Amino acid sequence: MSLVDFRTLGRSGLVVSPLALGTMTFGANGWGADEAASRELFDSYRAAGGNFIDTADIYGGGASEMLVGRFITDTGARDEVVLATKFAFNGSASPLAATQGGRGNPNAGGAGAKNIHRALEASLRRLGTDYVDLYWMHIWDGVTPVEEIVQTLGDLVRAGKIRYYAFSDMPAWLATKAATIAAERRVPAPIAIQVEYSLVARDVESEHVPAAREAGMGVVPWSPLAGGFLSGKYRREDTSGTGRLSGANPFGNSKFADRNWDILDALKSVADELGCTLAQAALAWVMAQPGVTATLVGASRLPQLEDNMKATEIALNADQMSRLDAASAPTPGFTAALSSPAVRRMVFGGNSVKGWAG
Ligand SMILES: NC(=O)c1ccc[n+]([C@@H]2O[C@H](COP(=O)([O-])OP(=O)(O)OC[C@H]3O[C@@H](n4cnc5c(N)ncnc54)[C@H](OP(=O)(O)O)[C@@H]3O)[C@@H](O)[C@H]2O)c1
Repeated sequence: MSLVDFRTLGRSGLVVSPLALGTMTFGANGWGADEAASRELFDSYRAAGGNFIDTADIYGGGASEMLVGRFITDTGARDEVVLATKFAFNGSASPLAATQGGRGNPNAGGAGAKNIHRALEASLRRLGTDYVDLYWMHIWDGVTPVEEIVQTLGDLVRAGKIRYYAFSDMPAWLATKAATIAAERRVPAPIAIQVEYSLVARDVESEHVPAAREAGMGVVPWSPLAGGFLSGKYRREDTSGTGRLSGANPFGNSKFADRNWDILDALKSVADELGCTLAQAALAWVMAQPGVTATLVGASRLPQLEDNMKATEIALNADQMSRLDAASAPTPGFTAALSSPAVRRMVFGGNSVKGWAG
């Protein structure tokens, strides 16, 4: 496999690379990449044939969109790039202002029609383009009716301002309901979900992945390396390291859990067998999961991206896959327990019955 092993995103005609370039680091302070480093990341990904660029209006306080827009303009390849950005977080007040008691405009966040139009116009200005290929609802606001979201985003597709839309960080039922409403009304439907998915974050397997497959949405994992944890650069006995999760940082230290260190040990043994880096083995595992179309890779420096892009050349064998699956198996919750093979056999009188989707 390589970055030009193109595939369609969900039940759509949008053609994307198996690895998408995440640009959350572009222009971010501290743990991010400055303009020169961001340009290197962008150029290297494009030179390897990658076409799928993921940004958001809040990344770097708008800096990521501005840098991505500049790089695309400079290469003159707007049509060759699948440009994705996101709306929903509040554009009027920084989280810092909120913790200090400052209040922003409630209609500058969320999925209401007023904010979506505001956010899109602002993103288009920063990106220096007149359309977005894929517009993500970054996070579910918990209140806007699904009908309004489908209507607003579908209208933007029809107006040509966005080509497709999709959902990130939402309950599975919301994405399924939106897809159902859209199908019934014969209007544009969401084509993908973007969720945290890695060897140490497999919760989405119980509801989100089956929902996406049922509704024709591609799964796009974010933080496939758990913010760098799965690169193996942090040690159980000493987590200081140098990276995004070192010391006091905005991402916290939740990845440094006993269970995750055990998963890292299993990953190391598989990577050693394959003669590849831990990051490559971790990415290869995510990319091979059912329903996953394109995996978001992030980097703060070029050598990391070069390392990660080589994951397309790694194939885990069945034994390696099952060892990693076993080491990282999530504790089955209510839904997963109900759909276990044992329960299915009970339902079908002791027979093993395969459904059309496996
Ligand atoms: N929808 C959402 O809510 C959401 C949330 C998060 C991210 N995203 C998207 O997903 C993309 C990827 O997420 P992510 O950045 O969290 O992914 P990640 O792959 O889990 O973490 C990337 C970070 O890990 C470190 N790293 C990456 N490759 C490495 C390597 N080969 N060796 C050592 N360290 C390495 C770097 O940080 P250091 O060098 O600082 O250690 C890098 O910035 C983002 O850019 C964004 O587009 C979406």
